[in-house]
Amino acid sequence: MAIGSVWEEEAERFVAILHLSQERALHPELSRLIEDCPGEQLLDYGCGDGRILETLSSRWVIDAYDPSSLMRNIAQRRVGSRVRRLASNPAEVDGPYDVVLLGMVILCIPERDDVLRVLRDCALRMKASSRLFVTTTHPCFRPSHFSNFKTSFGGAQPFQYLADGAPFEVTLRDSGTTGIVFTDYHWSLGFTVSALRSQGLAVSSLIEVPDDPESPDRNDLVPPFLILECNKLS
Ligand SMILES: C[S@@+](CC[C@H](N)C(=O)[O-])C[C@H]1O[C@@H](n2cnc3c(N)ncnc32)[C@H](O)[C@@H]1O
Repeated sequence: MAIGSVWEEEAERFVAILHLSQERALHPELSRLIEDCPGEQLLDYGCGDGRILETLSSRWVIDAYDPSSLMRNIAQRRVGSRVRRLASNPAEVDGPYDVVLLGMVILCIPERDDVLRVLRDCALRMKASSRLFVTTTHPCFRPSHFSNFKTSFGGAQPFQYLADGAPFEVTLRDSGTTGIVFTDYHWSLGFTVSALRSQGLAVSSLIEVPDDPESPDRNDLVPPFLILECNKLS
């Protein structure tokens, strides 16, 4: 994990954010996709505060992993009763799982090799019928403004789409709140799909999630979020 990342230094402040575009746009779509999957064993890899888990049906037996002790404490508080195991090390959750969720994690990782390692970890915990859901902010539209976030790309910083691993600033603010600024890392679509493939994973569908339908500030032109649904290559 990046030294000095928001997860270590400002975990409480970050999870206090409502993040309405995630709540109203990304999470309903992601929950629907997960509920459509067969099976009941689910791993939330890089679970953060675990808020997506609150939206899932009781069918799912859930394990979660996060390397940040602060995030694990917050997840324990928020969704501890919903989770079978909350692991500090991926070795504690070896699966296999029917569904692996990698939600908003790759964009927190600055190093290419670490992205590959995380994808490999996910693949190792899957079987032929498993599904992996990778979510991220849409890498193609970083210069656009969305209902509750914008990035430094296209403003103070030129948007070099092919500069994989480039850090950029995200300003996230729900209306009526002070918000937060943090750093994410850009991974192009081409890099992401190749990285998945290098770890034995194929993208079976790519879902571009439109902005928060309830926000007066929604961006009707381009989607803020991307979900990559993947399966294991045989
Ligand atoms: C933006 S939060 C996303 C949390 C949650 N998955 C969600 O979708 O709301 C990113 C999380 O990824 C975790 N993380 C960062 N680097 C990671 C890594 N190399 N492996 C696993 N998790 C990581 C952080 O600790 C943080 O909790």
